[in-house]
Parts: sequence; C-alpha cells; structure tokens
Amino acid sequence: MAAVIDIHQLTKTYLMGQTQVRALRGIDLQIQTNEYVALMGPSGSGKSTLMNLLGCLDSPTSGRYLLDGKDVSQMEDAELARIRNEKIGFVFQTFNLLPRQTTLENVALPLVYAGLPKKARRERAAEVLHDVGLGDRLDHRPNELSGGQRQRVAIARALVNRPAIILADEPTGNLDTKTSIEIMGIFEDIQARGNTVILVTHEPDIADHAHRIVRLRDGEVESDLPNEHVIRVSDPTHRYNQA
Ligand SMILES: Nc1ncnc2c1ncn2[C@@H]1O[C@H](COP(=O)(O)OP(=O)(O)O)[C@@H](O)[C@H]1O
Ligand SMILES: [Mg+2]
Repeated sequence: MAAVIDIHQLTKTYLMGQTQVRALRGIDLQIQTNEYVALMGPSGSGKSTLMNLLGCLDSPTSGRYLLDGKDVSQMEDAELARIRNEKIGFVFQTFNLLPRQTTLENVALPLVYAGLPKKARRERAAEVLHDVGLGDRLDHRPNELSGGQRQRVAIARALVNRPAIILADEPTGNLDTKTSIEIMGIFEDIQARGNTVILVTHEPDIADHAHRIVRLRDGEVESDLPNEHVIRVSDPTHRYNQA
C-alpha cells in the first residue's frame, strides 16, 4: 500500500527580520494509512512546524510532500485549503472553539465550507457529537463545558468532514491526567475505525498510546521506532482501569 504521507527532504526556514530560523532541516518520513504515530521532541525541535506542513496549513521552503500520492508542496493556498478540508482534521491544545457558538454550531461549521445544506449539517454534527459522548451537550457554549468536554467538541469538529487523517498538536496539554486518558480513548477509537492518527506530545505516557514514535531534534528526525508497549485505554487489565 502506498504511504498516505510521503515526505522527502522537507525543510522550513522562517525569516525573522534578517535572521533565518531553520525550523526543519530535511525531514524524510513515510506514514501508511491507519498508522498511529506520536511525534515527540523538545520544545523548539520543529514539531508544530511539521504538523502545520503535514496539515497543509503552510508550505515547505524546499522538499517534497506527497499526500495521498499528490504533490502538495508547491500548491497555491486555495488548492491547499481544499485538500485540507477534504483530507485533514485538526485538534489543538487550546481547542480553538468559537466562544459564542454552541457545541452543535462549532462542530457543524466545517460543513458550511463543504457546502452541505443546514439540516444535513446539524444532523451530521449531532451524530459525531454523540460519538464522542456529548450527545446531551449540543446547546452548551464552550464556557459551559469542562476542558475535556471542550476537547471532545474540538475532536468532533475535526471528524465531521470524515477526513482520513487526524492531526493533533498537544491535544492533552491543557488537561488533567484522568481527562487526558479519556481523550486518548477517543483517539484510540478513531484509529480503530480506520483513520490515520498523528499526534504531537512531550508526555511519554501519552506517546505510549501510539504504535510508532518519531522523535525530532533541531529540525531533524532523531529516531523513528515502533512502540513495543502500546497502552490501550480500553484494556481492562490496565492500571487506568484498576481504580
Ligand atoms: N512563525 C514563525 N516564525 C519564526 N520562527 C518560528 C515560527 N514558528 C516557529 N518558529 C521557530 O521554529 C522553531 C521550531 O518551532 P516549532 O515548530 O514551534 O517547535 P515545537 O513545536 O517543537 O516546539 C523554533 O525555533 C521556533 O522559534
Ligand atoms: Mg509546538
């Protein structure tokens, strides 16, 4: 099977006035459909930069990125946006929900860009919210929800377009341990349903849910290894479930 993500010698250099910041210095990475990858590395090692490139939020300075066999490294913004809406769901550390919109409206929003009629948007959003355990919170606003619930809303929003790839940048960074584990259970389900999941974390306990761990250092891949001891939230023998 062809890699869903295939990048070759990807670089990203930011210009800060006269100074060049070489955030990525030649990344090679292949990720197959339905893989579950944790991206780790110290602060400033290029994790978010790489996620933004993978998610078509930004373009590389040089190198090649084949997404589903299609070269996206040279695409114009409009075309990138179209591919992103179709293939990628994003989850952020700070949830990035619209504060004045209800749960249902936040989740339905990406479907506006997808051109779905209103009734279908609301139905699909409600269905995905039900899947993440928020079927009874459709009319709440973000400030009426806990952190874990907000992140569930954000995950539902990422899933609502049925993207093949879910990218999550420190999705548990603002959550307590118990809530983090609940969120990891949702990612486990998402991967089990066939999606490709890539998440950034600096917490080893979180990375241990993934099946493969890629470490960055100074804009380069330092190591790329299978995870020999995958933690499953759903495992009844796991310490999480031994309360
Ligand atoms: N928009 C930007 N403009 C300039 N420099 C940036 C920008 N974004 C990130 N950087 C720099 O690129 C490097 C990698 O940053 P980042 O990808 O955010 O790392 P990480 O997510 O691993 O902490 C850092 O040195 C950071 O300061
Ligand atoms: Mg970052």
